[in-house]
Amino acid sequence: MTPRRPLLIRLDPCYADRGRKNPDMGTTRKHAVIDPATGKIDRGIFSDRAIYDEEMEKIFGRAWLMIGHESLVPGPDDYFHTYMGEDPVILTRDGQGRLHALLNMCRHRGNRVVRCDDGNAKRFMCAYHGWTYRNDGSLEHVPGKSEAYYDALDFASLGLIEAHVETYAGLIFATWAKDAPGLEAYLGDARWYLDTVFNRRDGGMQALGPTKWLEPANWKTMVDNCSDNYHVPTSHLSSAAVQSRFLGRPRLSHDDQFRSPNKHVFVNGHAITFRDADDNQPRYMHGVSTETMRLFEDYHRATTPEVERRLGTLRARRVQLGNHSIFPNGILGFRLALPRGPLKTEFWHFVLLERDAPEELKRVIRIGSQANNGAAGMFEQDDVDNWRQVTEASTSRFARRHKQDLSMGVGHAGPHPDYPGLVSERYISENNQRLFYMRWEQFMNADSWAGIPLDPIRARFDGTATMRG
Ligand code: FES
Ligand SMILES: [Fe+2]
Repeated sequence: MTPRRPLLIRLDPCYADRGRKNPDMGTTRKHAVIDPATGKIDRGIFSDRAIYDEEMEKIFGRAWLMIGHESLVPGPDDYFHTYMGEDPVILTRDGQGRLHALLNMCRHRGNRVVRCDDGNAKRFMCAYHGWTYRNDGSLEHVPGKSEAYYDALDFASLGLIEAHVETYAGLIFATWAKDAPGLEAYLGDARWYLDTVFNRRDGGMQALGPTKWLEPANWKTMVDNCSDNYHVPTSHLSSAAVQSRFLGRPRLSHDDQFRSPNKHVFVNGHAITFRDADDNQPRYMHGVSTETMRLFEDYHRATTPEVERRLGTLRARRVQLGNHSIFPNGILGFRLALPRGPLKTEFWHFVLLERDAPEELKRVIRIGSQANNGAAGMFEQDDVDNWRQVTEASTSRFARRHKQDLSMGVGHAGPHPDYPGLVSERYISENNQRLFYMRWEQFMNADSWAGIPLDPIRARFDGTATMRG
């Protein structure tokens, strides 16, 4: 028998000691769905109802979830209706300007107290019996408080259930877990990369949208796809041909992808890809074409000194964030894959614009974003077909006997002198996908946050940008 090649990958401490025993709890691992040495992965995780239910508790009940952006609730008493996993949540800004994430469930019998997507209101009245809550979640009024309840109702304990909220550069995150680490620690060194999109300008960003639609696919298929650059020349062949014919973009080949100096990195649960080049080209955004290139170049020239002051030279001039995911379900910027059962995902597509950008540039980016990754976007439609088929294959009891193969680049990643995280040797790799499913296992196997490892922050954050923008 040929001896198995040694595993060259230098795993982060949180991935290094894997086996049937859980090193953190000394117990047998309940979920061991991926073999990191071979990349073989159990298809059942894409369709099994019991696993899905456990994900809602162990992942969406614990992780920091991206739920909105400050620009969606700009003024006092504004609210925006969103979700944490499957749970409906009202994101409010109270009269003092504080943000709240409130479970949209009346504490009496459970009706939703908000029925619209957004608005401005100081209080929310349940339409069943009239219990009324302030926009900070506290219970203010109950019909028959004395006459029917004999003044025995404990108002203080019957406010809307509130999640813990923190922000990063205007993005709003929330968690139900009281023992969760702070958002800064949760994002960890991934923020070093995320800053290059979300934290570039002094004026911050504004969110438009979302466009919402349902996709017949498991939520994880679209998250793991964020690091899959391998599929682009094949799945998007026709879309890329349209782009090169009508927008003047160069054709993309497998060879280009395999030779690319771009990077593929996994940091603290979050998957990153980025363009590594100091050619002073504006970063690629949807909306770039031969006709609009001038707009992007002018904007790049005008804003580079500010971006350099905020992020330092290396990040401003060399790192251009590409496809990425924020664990568990933030994908490609401010877009959400909201689980709706094991075989269905509700997709929320926002367009995030730099607030002080010229209006003409904003218009071009907005149209380009919809044309590429909106509900009818060229690239989106190519992708959905893949995710749907990966999901469908996992529903067959026979097919499930044969595991998925995520072996590309096993053993070819490690620390990098310039870049934080675990950096793949090649841009085209399945390293991030393997690590995503290993992160998934860590959440699913832990009894509490004490059993979920976090990498310490090691990156040097040059420049003036902070968590607060
Ligand atoms: S269910 Fe809301 S007041 Fe009764
Ligand atoms: Fe794609």
